[in-house]
Amino acid sequence: MSVDTAAAVAERFRELYGAEPEGVWAAPGRVNLIGEHTDYNDGFVMPFALPHTAVVAVSRRDDGVLRLHSSDVEGGVVELRVDELAPESDRGWTAYPSGVVWALRQAGHAVTGADIHLASTVPAGAGLSSSAALEVVVALALNDLYELGQKGWQLARLCQRAENVYVGAPVGIMDQTASACCQAGHALFLDTRDLSQKQIPFDLAAEGMRLLVVDTQVKHSHSEGEYGKRRAGCEKGAALLGVDALRDIAYDDLDGALERLGDEEEVRRLVRHVVTEDQRVERVVSLLESGETRAIGPVLTEGHASLRDDFRISCPELDLVVDTALAGGALGARMTGGGFGGSAIVLAEAADVETITKAVEAAFAAAGFTAPRVFEAVPAAGARRVS
Ligand code: GLA
Repeated sequence: MSVDTAAAVAERFRELYGAEPEGVWAAPGRVNLIGEHTDYNDGFVMPFALPHTAVVAVSRRDDGVLRLHSSDVEGGVVELRVDELAPESDRGWTAYPSGVVWALRQAGHAVTGADIHLASTVPAGAGLSSSAALEVVVALALNDLYELGQKGWQLARLCQRAENVYVGAPVGIMDQTASACCQAGHALFLDTRDLSQKQIPFDLAAEGMRLLVVDTQVKHSHSEGEYGKRRAGCEKGAALLGVDALRDIAYDDLDGALERLGDEEEVRRLVRHVVTEDQRVERVVSLLESGETRAIGPVLTEGHASLRDDFRISCPELDLVVDTALAGGALGARMTGGGFGGSAIVLAEAADVETITKAVEAAFAAAGFTAPRVFEAVPAAGARRVS
């Protein structure tokens, strides 16, 4: 994010609220390299931060008033009272920042109000965690201003609670942790059971490769019901298998576990995805750590097949990106994020990027799909104060 963006957000704050903001903060969206739908199964994930960020200018208030404004949404300043915030009372964009204020107050933090102005460059509905960026940036700003002393992972937990309870979306912990804790030049290997983290250097350019993000422009917002169904199916699988979470199924016990599930075909497919996906995350980490970066390509592609065939959350546009990219020489490709639309990632040699991009665009045009948005992603910094 540029200094100009921070200055523009501060300037708009002054116009709206007639005073200087106390500070400006930024938090990124993310792509997930590998580890999909594993986070609510206590498993492994490996996201990295995008350069696209949600940026807020914020000042404290001591009169219980919360004022919210966004450049990205039509309409003026929304004014709420912090002591009247209630779960699922709001379905619009304001639910994310007010949910964070609610979660902080519920956790006993004396947040007595704020003036907030927001602008975000994270594409909404593209599976790139625009909501998590918005939650985390507000949490970090209030954490700093009210001197709450919470660490990144703790803020991520509070943001997840805001999204689960206040917004009403049953998401895992990956996106908020990615936005809060990622580091430039690294992917974040996160164990979602104990929240332990390892920053894995991920510098594709140095090795002559690139990672493309292809936003299919298929909005995934109608998928919440399907997301919840997958989550419930995984929990049923864990219960039938007598474990706390699918994370507890050992890789070499997968066949045995599938057998024990008998004719529960739907649950068997979900379990197979989650257990093999956790293993794929560990394979990718060990390949990256041993310098075999190109070899992660086929693992990413296997992950896509598993999400498409077993977890059943892909869509024709995502499959077309993957198939076209691979036919054009990509090292690997997969959908990323919650599914049912949103974005795919493509790992490719730098020299093949142009050909692959053109091939994907041509395939979309030929299929009559809306043109995709393609950009290169380099791991960027996590949430931070910018002024
Ligand atoms: C969404 C959720 C995450 C995670 C992914 C799938 O992004 O917010 O918690 O479950 O889907 O991996």
